[in-house]
Amino acid sequence: MRTWIVAGNWKMNNTIAEAVALANAIKDGTASIKKGEVILAPPFTSLQSVSQTIKGSRVALAAQTMFYEDRGAFTGEVSPVMLKDIGCTHVLIGHSERRKYFHEKDADVNLKVKKALAAGLKPIMCVGETDEEREKNVTRAVVGRQVKEGLRGVDKIDNVVIAYEPVWAIGTGKVATPAQAQDVHAFIRAILREIYQDAAAGIRLLYGGSVTADNISELIAMEDIDGALVGGASLKADGFLGIIKNIAKQK
Ligand code: PGA
Repeated sequence: MRTWIVAGNWKMNNTIAEAVALANAIKDGTASIKKGEVILAPPFTSLQSVSQTIKGSRVALAAQTMFYEDRGAFTGEVSPVMLKDIGCTHVLIGHSERRKYFHEKDADVNLKVKKALAAGLKPIMCVGETDEEREKNVTRAVVGRQVKEGLRGVDKIDNVVIAYEPVWAIGTGKVATPAQAQDVHAFIRAILREIYQDAAAGIRLLYGGSVTADNISELIAMEDIDGALVGGASLKADGFLGIIKNIAKQK
């Protein structure tokens, strides 16, 4: 049985005080939930404070990106060693906003996934097609390429989480239908099965893109959807806790 994951991607939001207040509310609101994994991904500036806030709780910490070197002359970048040091267990890699605004390519994603794993961080590797790509009917080609290239040379898949986030559904309120999401999740799992055989059955596949407490129940009912990567709705404790509770009810 795969345990569910709900990860909150705060993106470029929250001051330290706001981050601590939100993390406290999530910590308190999830204290009685026994199964599953809850992960918060604040911006770098509040990782330290959130790390202290959630210490000893069931909430885990992720960074939103990282660089693929441990140290050196890379102005503005943060290394996996630093993220481990601050208390991160997970790191988002290749989010579509990183791909779009910061020109991350599959090859960069691959270097980062491998480096995160080597450093003992669990990468949450994000994949997904744009609106235009879905219109052109190349969703499988795009997502298939992103998965295969992102995992190139990764021998052991157990610590990898994959988030399928159709770009057209991110921040738009245009959530994928459960059937659309399941179709791509099953496709991703089939690719993983080709490469990693039986280990593919244990890999958590998250859906992301306009997830709310109202639409999560029908998404999580799908066989290959093991949780959610949540942006906008993770910025308010009630909304995020609502998603977690609705998932915990079902899985
Ligand atoms: P959203 O973002 O929930 O606001 O659509 C999801 C994400 O980008 O991870």
